[in-house]
Amino acid sequence: MSNAVVVGTQWGDEGKGKIVDLLAERFDIVARCQGGHNAGHTVIVDGRKYILHLIPSGILHQGKLCVIGNGVVVNPFALIEELKGLEGFEVDGRLAVSNRCHLIMPYHGAIEAAEESRLGDRKIGTTSRGIGPCYEDKIARRGIRIGELASPDHFRNRVLSNLEVKNRILTNVYGEKPLDGEAIVDSYLEAAKVVLPFVTDTAELLNRSIREGKSVLFEGAQGALLDIDHGTYPFVTSSNATAGGACTGTGVGPTAIDGVIGISKAYTTRVGGGPFPTEFTDELGEAVREKGSEFGASTGRPRRCGWFDAAVVRYSCLVNNVDALVITKLDVLDDLEEISICVGYRHQGRRFEGFPSSIETLEEVEPVYETHPGWRTPTSGITRYRDLPDQAKSYLRRLSELVETDICVVSTGPDRSETIPVPESPKTALFFG
Ligand code: GDP
Ligand code: IMO
Ligand code: MG
Repeated sequence: MSNAVVVGTQWGDEGKGKIVDLLAERFDIVARCQGGHNAGHTVIVDGRKYILHLIPSGILHQGKLCVIGNGVVVNPFALIEELKGLEGFEVDGRLAVSNRCHLIMPYHGAIEAAEESRLGDRKIGTTSRGIGPCYEDKIARRGIRIGELASPDHFRNRVLSNLEVKNRILTNVYGEKPLDGEAIVDSYLEAAKVVLPFVTDTAELLNRSIREGKSVLFEGAQGALLDIDHGTYPFVTSSNATAGGACTGTGVGPTAIDGVIGISKAYTTRVGGGPFPTEFTDELGEAVREKGSEFGASTGRPRRCGWFDAAVVRYSCLVNNVDALVITKLDVLDDLEEISICVGYRHQGRRFEGFPSSIETLEEVEPVYETHPGWRTPTSGITRYRDLPDQAKSYLRRLSELVETDICVVSTGPDRSETIPVPESPKTALFFG
């Protein structure tokens, strides 16, 4: 496999950062394709924790080129902050940002905050990064792209023209204060001094590199259930977090991509609003949140926790055409006496086939559970698959059967070393071959 996509198969935070970091060694380039600094990808290197938001997790591997593809929305101040956190890593010459990336502007955040507050109980529970309104402007053909920062007069005109309308929305629709256009322009042009040296035509760069025989790892952000088309709309993010987003978000065609690796937790989490059929409603939720440190890597918000939902992951494996799955955080289940798996749903007294497209239906479904005995022994530190407790192996086999996809790797801790290859999976060689 030369070019591969890593995608989240649940509602994000599956451990993509850890797995991309592991895989990065075997690829020449790591590219982000969609989303923005709503993502929080955690990587532990030599006991030190790094949380990447915009910059691909491959940046922690010296010598790898990292690309922020055209599908990513960029807040230049967030990018500068992140670069500061990477002191000690050589970034110059290793980071390329697409000139076609759309800029997140202060009015995006202001409108998002006002709209979330208007929605009240039905708010999406976004990361408040201005992601949705920025993608709205992109699709409405009024967005401002990062390459436009190179022409200050043109940039000023674009901002002031957009702001004229945004300020009317902020004041007349939401009753908020207007924003100061000149201050925005000045601060963005200041940030441009740091950011523009990284800006280039990354579609050209990636495709030329592929033609020269270099390999690319596409680092998905969020997860399939947060995808704007395939996720639990409207409780989703505003980009294509499924594998197809790797093509549109970088300008690399689908025939250049050789495989898709899906990442899934051994249970389920979600941050923000929206239906979650297997969510714990008892003290187990708190226990799993504590054991799994389930607090948002970007916002610090507590993550909602629940049992593994095979209906979710089966659907994800289908819409991403996942070749093999990595199951993370198995260790978080180590203490449990019994572990349930949702094998599918019932709706209005009947078995529901597939995954519902309407959230009203998803809110009404009843999960059908199967209960398995826990293994009640630590799995962290185990390095060979055969040394895992029998109950853990049978749990993993059942997950694989239910989601109709091979499991190639099991993760039992945040560290690089806490990763176990599944010997019979042909995809294991990608990590350990
Ligand atoms: P991402 O957004 O998919 O990259 O995932 P996050 O970084 O937001 O959240 C995953 C969290 O789980 C991070 O804190 C990781 O360090 C941690 N993690 C990853 N794999 C494992 C694992 O197998 N076990 C445990 N206990 N933690 C893990
Ligand atoms: P990574 O890449 C988990 C969620 C938000 C909210 C919804 C919309 O770390 O897995 P947005 O700010 O994108 O408009 O919010 O999507 N969300 C994530 N949840 N992991 C993420 O990224 C997320 N990015 C966005 O919580 O429910
Ligand atoms: Mg995350």
